Amino acid sequence: MNKIIKGAITALLLLVIASSCKQKQPQNTIDNNKAVSKEFETKSDLVVDFSDTGIVIQPTMYGVFFEDINFGADGGIYAELIKNRSFEFPNPKMGWHEPNSVRYSLNGDSGFAKVTDYVNGKGNKRYVHVMVENDQRYELYNEGFRGIGVKADAKYDLSLSLAKNKGITQISVALLDTTNTVVGQTNIIPKEHEEWQTYTATLQPNKTVAKGKLKITFSGKGSIDMDLVSLFPQETWKGRKKGLRKDLVTLLDGLNPGFVRFPGGCIVEGMNLDNRYQWKKTVGAWDERELMINRWNIEFPNKNAPDYFQSFGLGFFEYFQLSEDLGAEPLPILGCGMACQFNSGELVPLEDLDPYVQDALDLIEFANGSTNTKWGSLRKEMGHPEPFQMKYIGIGNEQWGPEYFERYKVFAAILAEKHPEITVVSTPGPFPDGDMFEYGWEQLNELDVALVDEHYYKSPEWFLENADRYDSYDRNGPKVFAGEYAAHPKDKDGIVENNWQAALAEAAFMTGLERNADLVHLTSYAPLMAHADAWQWAPDLIWFNNLEAVPTPNYQVQKLFSNNPGTNLIGITKNDKPLTGQNNLYASAVIDSSTQEVIFKIVNTASQAQEVNIKLKGQDVVAKGTKTVLTSDGLEEINSFENPNNIVPQVEEITAKEDMVQLQLAPRSLNVVKFKIK
Ligand code: AHR
Repeated sequence: MNKIIKGAITALLLLVIASSCKQKQPQNTIDNNKAVSKEFETKSDLVVDFSDTGIVIQPTMYGVFFEDINFGADGGIYAELIKNRSFEFPNPKMGWHEPNSVRYSLNGDSGFAKVTDYVNGKGNKRYVHVMVENDQRYELYNEGFRGIGVKADAKYDLSLSLAKNKGITQISVALLDTTNTVVGQTNIIPKEHEEWQTYTATLQPNKTVAKGKLKITFSGKGSIDMDLVSLFPQETWKGRKKGLRKDLVTLLDGLNPGFVRFPGGCIVEGMNLDNRYQWKKTVGAWDERELMINRWNIEFPNKNAPDYFQSFGLGFFEYFQLSEDLGAEPLPILGCGMACQFNSGELVPLEDLDPYVQDALDLIEFANGSTNTKWGSLRKEMGHPEPFQMKYIGIGNEQWGPEYFERYKVFAAILAEKHPEITVVSTPGPFPDGDMFEYGWEQLNELDVALVDEHYYKSPEWFLENADRYDSYDRNGPKVFAGEYAAHPKDKDGIVENNWQAALAEAAFMTGLERNADLVHLTSYAPLMAHADAWQWAPDLIWFNNLEAVPTPNYQVQKLFSNNPGTNLIGITKNDKPLTGQNNLYASAVIDSSTQEVIFKIVNTASQAQEVNIKLKGQDVVAKGTKTVLTSDGLEEINSFENPNNIVPQVEEITAKEDMVQLQLAPRSLNVVKFKIK
């Protein structure tokens, strides 16, 4: 069964759920009226009760989910601009073009690049042997990831490895725009040496180009070996060489995430076991990390990406480092000996599970172990002798059935014995309800697990209906990790957009997550990002192209929650009941003991403005506060590359009268209200 079938099942389930929910609670909809009205629909009296502040909001409450999907890593956050930089793709010249090669040229015999295997090659298996005939200036082009994006006057670090030069006098490397005009150029004079040597240079384009290419011209007559052609912006996150795209990490940083889940997602499991994510293959020297096909290359027949591979330039070391930079807990998810059950479902026999369990133990050693250990010493060698202080590990992504629990038990027993300090995350399967989910929870309850990773990709209506989802969960059972979720509005021409309808529904739902912070300890929207020209799955939190990134309205919602998490939950009610859609209102309230603030998040899904009077029970506040409003007139509205600030928060000053706050809530709005406590 593939993802399409999964999609169909989900859609069916969704229809059934949506229609049954409709009958159950007709008020939980975003008001569809095209026009929004400034007239007040209702006046509601709410009460915020400060008497019980016993529930602590976990610092991990709002995190991020990173998976290499939609060109999220290669072609995305990993800032390498050269695709197939070391000729390792199964088609070794994919992404490369040689217009005047002797193989293709009608009127000239300039040269040829012969793909050659290293003798005893390990991670890096191939290079090219370039032969140039008659000084015809043989040319090799790289197309980049849907083009190469460069900015005028910015500096780019070029590096390439060369060996065995015989007669090549110059290698000229140029950046071209779409009309093949040179916008930046540098020349390398190769020396005569047998062994591989790295040559570096800087390219500084005089023009901004979104979809350029790199042209390498060989002059002379003879041959030379070449490998590892790499081009990175100098301006990366924290200026790290061969690092991450600064604009994208800055957006992640803006989310102030409590954790970073990595590497997925289905990519953890693999379509078959060979294709599973193996963290050990992603650490050590960047140029020896063995390339692997990205499962999203072929997952969706209508969204095939034949050039989608994992170079693992963003591997587990870089991931831990990123989590540390963001002040977030790393939360790695590991395979449990089961390939994706929507694909092959290949299983490792229980008696052969040891290497998989060992991978988990070794990852803990790599993250936290002493530098005298094998994996701890590799961490040191890679530049981080201090431990990364990893506290969580997930076993399996979206697994289901008895086969999962048999395997989970093996991991859980060994981890509990050897690493009781690590919290283990488990899964009840890919769906948020149904037999599979019920069975999963039953098993996990019996196993008395710590954290259960629930996933839901559902309609906006589902999110509204489920704002009270966790109100009735057992408080004595496992805690919840809402590990992947996103509201999927109706398909428009096959594209599921990050529109305001979806973002507003997520905001309403998130008040429910926050209201249940005693149970829900971690949450993350998914997927995190998508290349506008190379995506497989939508919606996504951040859209980017080769030059720019657009935070979606959903990102703005996440940001408002994650930057105002508070430290302790307090009650906000109407007629003694939590707000889960009455009069189209959804709400949660927290105090922040470090800033001495009270923070309310109130969502109005009506197409009319609403007025609410909030009585503060047991606490006065200072007169001046703020209301940050995220709203849009149209449910179909999005943030785009042309209009990235279409839906962004606006801050207003508001006043309170000691223990009374009167608020006007704009139609279809998320409101984050803050007052200092007296
Ligand atoms: O987020 C996209 C995919 O959705 C994840 O890889 C998988 O876990 C889920 O099915």
